[in-house]
Formats: sequence, structure tokens, C-alpha cells
Amino acid sequence: MSLDIEKILGHVKHHAEIREMIREVLFFDKVSSTNRIALEMASDGLPGGIAILAETQTRGKGRLGRSWFSPPACNIIFSILLRPCLPLREYPLFSPATAIGVIDGLDSATSVKAGIKWPNDIVVGEKKLGGILLETGAGGDQAALVIGLGVNVNLDQSNFPDELQSSATSLKEILGQELDRTALVIALFEGISRRVSELQTGSKTAVLQAVSTRCLTLGKKISVKTAQKTFEGWAEGIEEDGALRIRMGDQSRRRILIGEITHLREADAARH
Ligand code: BTN
Repeated sequence: MSLDIEKILGHVKHHAEIREMIREVLFFDKVSSTNRIALEMASDGLPGGIAILAETQTRGKGRLGRSWFSPPACNIIFSILLRPCLPLREYPLFSPATAIGVIDGLDSATSVKAGIKWPNDIVVGEKKLGGILLETGAGGDQAALVIGLGVNVNLDQSNFPDELQSSATSLKEILGQELDRTALVIALFEGISRRVSELQTGSKTAVLQAVSTRCLTLGKKISVKTAQKTFEGWAEGIEEDGALRIRMGDQSRRRILIGEITHLREADAARH
């Protein structure tokens, strides 16, 4: 079933917290990437508060230069263009805020208790259910921030390409039934707008505390791949700026803001 556009628009109009974040919703059947469209709007100087939803993407973008699998009319694909009222150095905090908003939204719409794999993968068990891509844009007086979200909803496991078979899941796989994507979009808008508003009105600590309670990376032995190097350590905490604090084998601490994490199983950890 396609998204019920009228229902989403009606809800956005009547929900004060969502309206603070989104004042316009645009729908597309097929785009290259909703993030790309939002970034183009940013560079044209458009104001924040625009959500772009699509049924499919031909060149969906993932983190770290990857692509995002976006088959037609079965998943949730959207980007939100914001011009936040926080300083640019605090924009990375929108990543954990969005992640916990998505967790809240999924919980209220489906009762699925998802977790966060640092920095912002939405996971159930060790399988990826959704991903968030934050990008900043030029144009306009105030720097733009684009929050892109993809959630796998009505996909069967067999629909995933081979390379995602062992690492990805969908809500249909978890719950054993198809879901109403319209209700889910509304719940996700609610969850994200609540946390984004919390972040922008000064309750940064509350947001990060909520993230810590749902972050499955914490307490685990992990492998970290950054642009410079790969190393292992124990994920210890999330810092005030969203960085992951890692305890190394020699008890020293490292912080990372960008990187690819692998959760190591105990058996793997023992070998290193
Ligand atoms: C990740 O790699 O985990 C991030 C995936 C983000 C995918 C979403 S889908 C909507 C938006 N548009 C894009 O091109 N990417 C994001």
C-alpha cells in the first residue's frame, strides 16, 4: 500500500511539536536521494522545516559513502531539512537525538524495542533495521542540517540483496506481518521532533542519557575503523558532544566522533 499523504499532512498540521520541526511535507514517487534533494534546497537558500518523503530512491546514500537499499513502496525513506538554532559545532548531536527519537517512534507504533549501534544505526539484536545520515549544507544565513532516515518495513528477508542478507532485517521479519507505513511515518515524526526539540531547548544531557540506555555498543568490546586506523577497545560511554569514549587495553581512553564500529563477540574478543 502507498503512503497516505493526506493523513500525514493532516497530522503534521495538528501536532504542535511536529509543526515546530516540519512546516512543509513534499512527496515523491521516485528520487535519486531525498538527502540530495534536501541539500539542493539548502543551497538554494530555502528555510528549514521541510520534510521530503519518497517511495523509492535510485541512488540512496548511506553513511561512509555507501549506498542505501531503497526498493519501491515498502520502506520508510525521508529527509528533513533544518536550520537549527544551535552552533554548528553542536550539529553532530542531532545524530543521537534522531536515533533515540526513532527508537521512541518505533516503540510507540509497533512495540518493537530497537537499540542503537553507535553512532546511529537502528538495530534489533545485531541486525540493522534502519540508518540515519546527517549532512550539513551551505546556502542561507544559518548552516543547514539534513537528517536522512531509512527504515526497512515491509521487506521479506529474501528481498534483501545478498550482501545484506546476514546483517539487515525489517519490521515485517521481526513482527511476522506487514505494517501501515503511514502510521509509522507519523510516529517517527513525533519521536524525532520530541527529541530534536529537547536538544534545542537545552536538555542535551537528558537526550544523551536516553541514548546511553538504548545504546547496545556500550559495555561491548569493539573494533573501530576510522579514516586513519583500525583498533580495538571497550566502548565505555557517550560524551557531551556525542563522541564515543573507548577504553584501550592499557587503560588509556580514546574518543571518536566518526568511525565504523564492529561489535566483537566474546569469543572473537578473547582471540585478540
Ligand atoms: C546508514 O548508512 O546507516 C544511513 C542510511 C540513511 C538512508 C536514508 S534513506 C533517506 C535518506 N536519503 C538518502 O539518500 N539517505 C538517507
